[in-house]
Amino acid sequence: MSEGFTRETPAWTRAHAEGLHRDDSNVAPIIYPPDERLDEDLHIWDTWLLRNRDGSIAEIDGRRVIFALTSPSDLLPGKRHDVATIRYFYSTDGENWTTGGRIFDDGTLGQRQWAGSAMYDPDGDDGEVYFYYTAAGEDGADELTYTQRIALATGGTVHTDDSELRIDGPWDHRVILTPDGDWYEREDQSRGMIYTFRDPWFYEDPQSGETYLLFEANTPVPEGTGACDDPVWEEFNGSIGIAHSPTGDPTEFELRPPLLDAVCVNQELERPHLVVRDGTYYLFISSHVHTFAPGLEGYDALYGFVADDLRGDYEPLNGHGLVLTNPENAPFQSYSWLVYDHGDELLVTSFFNYFDYNRPSLDDVSLLPPEEQMRRFGGTLAPTVRIGVDGTETDIVGTLDHGHLPLRREALPESWWDGAARDGD
Ligand code: FRU
Repeated sequence: MSEGFTRETPAWTRAHAEGLHRDDSNVAPIIYPPDERLDEDLHIWDTWLLRNRDGSIAEIDGRRVIFALTSPSDLLPGKRHDVATIRYFYSTDGENWTTGGRIFDDGTLGQRQWAGSAMYDPDGDDGEVYFYYTAAGEDGADELTYTQRIALATGGTVHTDDSELRIDGPWDHRVILTPDGDWYEREDQSRGMIYTFRDPWFYEDPQSGETYLLFEANTPVPEGTGACDDPVWEEFNGSIGIAHSPTGDPTEFELRPPLLDAVCVNQELERPHLVVRDGTYYLFISSHVHTFAPGLEGYDALYGFVADDLRGDYEPLNGHGLVLTNPENAPFQSYSWLVYDHGDELLVTSFFNYFDYNRPSLDDVSLLPPEEQMRRFGGTLAPTVRIGVDGTETDIVGTLDHGHLPLRREALPESWWDGAARDGD
C-alpha cells in the first residue's frame, strides 16, 4: 500500500489472496441435477432463511421459511437478474419445500429486487416480518439501471393453518441506506466495474446486544492516491459494510466504517454474513473468479474471515480466505453461499448454477445456443455442504441433499467423507 491512501480497515490483502488454492479441504463434490427443482416453474438463486432477532432460524408452527430471488424457468438464465422477484417457500422437515408465492404484491422499491435478509418478530401483531432487500435500478427509469439502495419493508405478517403458511402485506417500503461517498462508494465514483451497495444482512451482536446491518459495498479509491502498486488494481475495491442502530430500532440505521475491505484484491464481496461460535466471529462472503484483480487467481467460492469481536482484526480463514469452492472441472456449479451454525458443524446452502460447463469465463455462457444455456442451468438449491471448523481452519466433512436445511435441534447423519467423487469420478 503506497502513501496517500491511509487505511485502518482490516484488509484482505494480495499477499493473503496469493495463497488461494483448491485442495481437499475446500472443494465440494460434483453436483448432479436433482430429479426435481424446488419449483419447476421457477429458477431460483440467492436464498436466505427467515431468522429470529438473535440470528437463529425462525420456526413458525413447525415450519421454517426461505426466501429466494426467482424468475420464470422458461426465461434464459442470464436474463434473470433483470427480472428478479422475491418469493417465499416453507417446509416442515427442511427437505420438502412448498412455494408460498411472491412476498410483495406492489409498492416495492427499485426496478427489481435483489438479495437481502428477513427478521421475524413474534411479539408483533400476528408475528411481524422485517424484510431488508436491495432496491436495484432507478424507480420509473425507462432503461434498466444499476443503482442500488438498501430498502426495508415492514408490516408483513405470518399466518398459518394446518395446510399452509402465508406471509401477507400490506407492506410499507422505504429506503434506509444509500452510500455516503466517503466510507462507501457511490455510483458516480465508480471507476471500473459497476459499484455495489446491496445485500443487507440483519445482525444482532450476541456480545453487546447491539443491532446492525451488514452489506456489500466498495471503498472509494480516488484516482492518483496510489492505493495499489498498479493503478489498474484500484478498481478492485470490494468492502463489507456495516450500519448500526443506536436505539436497537430495526428500522433506523446509521453507516459506520466497513468491517473489512479488499482494495487492490477483489471488486465484489457479496452477501456478507456472520456466524458467532464461542465468542469467535466468522464473517463470510461469496465472490467470483472474474472479480479478482489481475495477477490473482481466485474462484467462484465462499470466503471467510475470523476475529475475536465484531470490529476485530479479521484474518482470512485458512490463511487465504477460501472455505468452499467448486471442482476444477465444474467451476460454476454453485454460487451465493449462506452459512449457518449447526452446533458441531457449519451448514452451507447455495444455488445450483451452471453445470456441465468449464470454460474460463461465465460471460461465455451467453455464447452458447439458448437451449444449451437452459439445459446447463440448475436454478434450484444445491446440496447443503457440511463444514468442520477448528479455530481458523475449516474442512468439508460431507454433504446433505439438494436444499436440505436442518434446524439445529435436528440431528445430522453420521459424518462421512472419504474424499471420493470430489472430481466427479
Ligand atoms: C449474488 C448477487 C447478489 C445480488 C444478486 C442479484 O449472486 O450478485 O449480490 O443481490 O446476485 O441477482
